[in-house]
Amino acid sequence: MDSKINLTQEELEKLAEYLQKNIGIHLESQKLLRFKRKIEEIFLKHKIESFSTFYHRLRFLNSETLIQDLTNAVTVNETYFWREHEQFNLLSKEVLPQFIEASGLKTVRILVSPCSSGEELYSIMLSILDTPGLIERLNIEMVGIDIDSTMIQKAKTGLYSKRSVDKLPKHLLEKYFTKVGMLYQVDKSLTHAAKFIQINIFDEGIQERLGEYDVLFSRNMLIYFNARDKQRCFKTFWSLMKKDAKLFLGHADANNIDKKLFTPIKNGFHVFRKIA
Ligand SMILES: C[S@@+](CC[C@H](N)C(=O)[O-])C[C@H]1O[C@@H](n2cnc3c(N)ncnc32)[C@H](O)[C@@H]1O
Repeated sequence: MDSKINLTQEELEKLAEYLQKNIGIHLESQKLLRFKRKIEEIFLKHKIESFSTFYHRLRFLNSETLIQDLTNAVTVNETYFWREHEQFNLLSKEVLPQFIEASGLKTVRILVSPCSSGEELYSIMLSILDTPGLIERLNIEMVGIDIDSTMIQKAKTGLYSKRSVDKLPKHLLEKYFTKVGMLYQVDKSLTHAAKFIQINIFDEGIQERLGEYDVLFSRNMLIYFNARDKQRCFKTFWSLMKKDAKLFLGHADANNIDKKLFTPIKNGFHVFRKIA
């Protein structure tokens, strides 16, 4: 079977519209061309020979595996350890110590949305472990979510390339990773402590599924959304956060933040407090 597909302008537009309406992924039709090779692989995997069959299975048969494969193909998953790490420092040195109580072990819930292949979530854990007196006095629960099922699987496995761990401080790499051939396996104590869930941030009932958090990281996802979906997303974040919880955004994500829902707590760091 020929794996080459030549999507016409009209087909690209139909696909772009499907992605936007049904999955909440916004890609202009021309940008979809960037993912052509991955879309061709889906045609091969599902033994599909024409766009009309592909579209029919997506749109009318709601083929779950096809929808997930398409979603995985068109998401941008770029991430690496210690990315924009100044925020991890702020979290460990200033935000988390405020949760420490005179006695007892307070539970602090942290959500990483989206987590991609796990590097950001594990970096937060490493930053906490590297800060004296935190892990003994707080019970930290970490949850990562992403729409892309292959990334969630990778996050659970915790096996990374050299390029991915390159920015990590050497002492953390040596202490918490084992070399497996050319790759780096994050310690099992970390993979076992983290929870990763495949979910679309626009899914109905997300609050019931995920519960509420004291800290929410959302970096490098909102930049891909249009203004309307960005606002929907801020409302969802608000509903996933406890009173006074902190929202950490990537430097490009904070434009047009809903000021009725969140207020900045530290200039230049893109960190916000939930307004009740
Ligand atoms: C560029 S990565 C950012 C990963 C990490 N937060 C970081 O900053 O390094 C963007 C991720 O957003 C995920 N994503 C895109 N749309 C999503 C949605 N509607 N719900 C959940 N995750 C989504 C993609 O699958 C991708 O893994």
